[in-house]
Order: sequence, then structure tokens, then C-alpha cells
Amino acid sequence: MQDATRRRFLVGGAVTVGAALGPRVLRASAQAAPLKIGLVLPYTGVYAVLGESITLAMELVFARENWTVAGRKIEMIKEDDEMKPPVGIRKTEKLIDSDKVDILTGPVHSGILLGMRDKVHASKTILIVSNAGADDISRSKCSRWIFRASFSNWQPNQPMGAWVAKNVAKDVFIAAPNYAAGKEQLGAFKETFVPAGGKLIGEDYPKLGETDYAPYLTKIKQSGAKAVYAFFSGSDAVNFVKQFDEFGLKGSVKLTGAGFLTEPDVLPAQGKAALGVITGHFYTPLLDNPTNQKFVKDFQAKFGGKMPDGFACQGYDTAEIIVRAVKAVNGNTQDKDKLVDAIAHQEFDSPRGRFRFDAKTHNVIQPFIYVREVKEATGGLNNVVIDRIANVADPGTGCTLPA
Ligand code: PHB
Repeated sequence: MQDATRRRFLVGGAVTVGAALGPRVLRASAQAAPLKIGLVLPYTGVYAVLGESITLAMELVFARENWTVAGRKIEMIKEDDEMKPPVGIRKTEKLIDSDKVDILTGPVHSGILLGMRDKVHASKTILIVSNAGADDISRSKCSRWIFRASFSNWQPNQPMGAWVAKNVAKDVFIAAPNYAAGKEQLGAFKETFVPAGGKLIGEDYPKLGETDYAPYLTKIKQSGAKAVYAFFSGSDAVNFVKQFDEFGLKGSVKLTGAGFLTEPDVLPAQGKAALGVITGHFYTPLLDNPTNQKFVKDFQAKFGGKMPDGFACQGYDTAEIIVRAVKAVNGNTQDKDKLVDAIAHQEFDSPRGRFRFDAKTHNVIQPFIYVREVKEATGGLNNVVIDRIANVADPGTGCTLPA
């Protein structure tokens, strides 16, 4: 045997033996390999609660499937990106190059998603984004290997600009953390707020992970703004909403924002300071569709009464897509073209409504963006729907798939 041929035989041992024994044996041996799913998520830092919600909901779906799909055992490999782009990129490389994951999911932070994008694209790794909203991933940086089961930063915010101008106030101060997601979310708000007659009284970008918002709240108070529109999430959302109330602004300035400001991951810590806050989001656990009712019940039963939030819905949908697509290809994740095709065509009832990807961008089309107000409802603080906008799809400017 020539050296090169011998090496190939040894390296590709399982496949070569399988081929010699015939297709049925090959199928059985390929199916025996675990289905490796790599998670790049924050398990520490400002967005740790988001990473936890996504992970728990994925575990709920996989437990329902007895941790097996199409004969393959499901294995989750969790990596903490610590909210730091260089760490997230390093963990992504480890999952792709060393662990050789079949499918990748995460991250939460837009900067990390933008940082890992080229590695994912060049290695043809299938990534189902389970949070980070970086708009370019559905636009100039879209990839046939990347799907997004969460949102683009534009989606929950663009409809809110006109809504706030019409229904809340024309004089608005806007604020968000100083990084890609903050800039994009407020940019999307402005897109419809200004044409609807809104006037930007001021805007501020505190650092991600700020703990003292007093200087910003002072500026808001002095600005004469009638309302604030803000994007903060995780522990930033807890601090901002509580300090906004402690500062005495709640009586005179209406607080509005992207839904992440008052999701159930932060509502218990915010307490009554969150009452009356109006936000836009594709989900609330109060949605009365049967899939959501079962999801809320099962999630609470499995996780000690914890209320699922939008991040959990994203984790649920990510896991549901994986289970359905891997079943559709009979467990064969080697043929990536077929797997991409199977993922792109998934359509199912999600807790948020009917789930489907936009064929133009691989980004989810939100069945609705709900305008929600925090009220005392069904035994605690909840985001109650007060209005809704249907079929919100990212414009996808500059994306031409397959790319
Ligand atoms: C993001 O960085 O894209 C991001 C983070 C937290 C959120 C939403 C978006 O709640």
C-alpha cells in the first residue's frame, strides 16, 4: 500500500470500513456518533442571565427528545465567552477546530458575533444565532451557513419609533450601552421616530456594564425630555430601571425601550421600579397560543418556577430547529448543503407564534413585535400586550444568499 493511500485509510478508517461493508452498516456507524452542539454564551458578566435562559430552554427541548435525535446522542459543549470578543472568538475556534462540533449556537453579544463570523463562514460551520442582533449578519455579512433564531437589532426597535412618537411623547432622550448593539437598536428607533414628528432631545451611550447611571439621569432630568427610549439588558437593565426610579424620574418622564429592558430575567430584581415601562419585543410569556402555554408550564416545572423570557424562547426555537432539521436529514450532518436546506425550510409553532426564516437573509421573520407595558398581572409583574405590529422582517440590505 502506498504511504498516502495507507494514511487516508487510517484517517478515514470508520468510513472506509463502512463503505466496504455496505451502506446499511455505514449508516448505523455514522448515526452512532454523538451530535455535538457547541454553545458560545456568556455564563459570567452583565449578560450571564441571558446565557442561562438560552441554555435552560435548549435543555428543555433536548430532554423532551430523551437527548437523542435520529439515533444520535445529543451532546452540548458549553463555553463561557465572558462577554469578551477575543475570548468568544477563541472559544469558537476551539469548538470548530478541536471539538469539531456539528452545529454551533450563541452568542449573546453583537461584537462577539461580528468577531466570529468570518471563522464560521470560512469553515462552513452551521451557526444558529440564539441572541446577538448585529444587523450586518442579515445584511452585508450574511452567510449561507448562518441562521438567526432570535432577532436583528433593527427588528424590535424600528416599529417602536413611530409608536412612541404617536402614543407617548415627541420629546425623547435616548440611551444605550456604547457598543454595536446599542448603536444599532437606537438607530432603528430613530428611523421611524424622526419621520413621525419626534424630536431627539439628547442621546447618551454609557459603557456596557456601567453601574452608576447618576450622571446620565441628571442629564435626562435637565433636558426637559418627556420620555426616554432605552436599550439595556441583563444587569445593566436592572441598574438603569432601578436608578431611574430612585432618581425620581418616573413621575415626570415616561420610560420606554427595547423589550430587553424589562424581560422576566430582570423583572424580579427591578420590582415595582419597572411598573409602567413600555417596550417592544417579539415575545411575552403571557401569549395565549397553546405552544407558549405548554412552554411556560414545562419551563416553570423544570426550573423551580422560573418564568421563561424572550431569551428562553430563542433557545427553545434554536433547539427545535436543530431537532427538526437533523431528523429531516436522518441524522446525516456530513452533507452540509442538505442540512442547510433542511434548516432553511423549517416552519413550526413556536412560543412566539409561527416560526419561519426569511429566505433572503436566514433571519427569523417576527410574527409580531408586541408593544408591552409592565403591569401587575397573573400573580406578579408581567409584560402585558397593549399593541402589536405584524410580520417584521429585517430589510436585509446588501445580503444576497447564497453567499
Ligand atoms: C446584542 O449584543 O446583540 C444584544 C445583547 C443583549 C440583548 C440584545 C442584543 O438583550
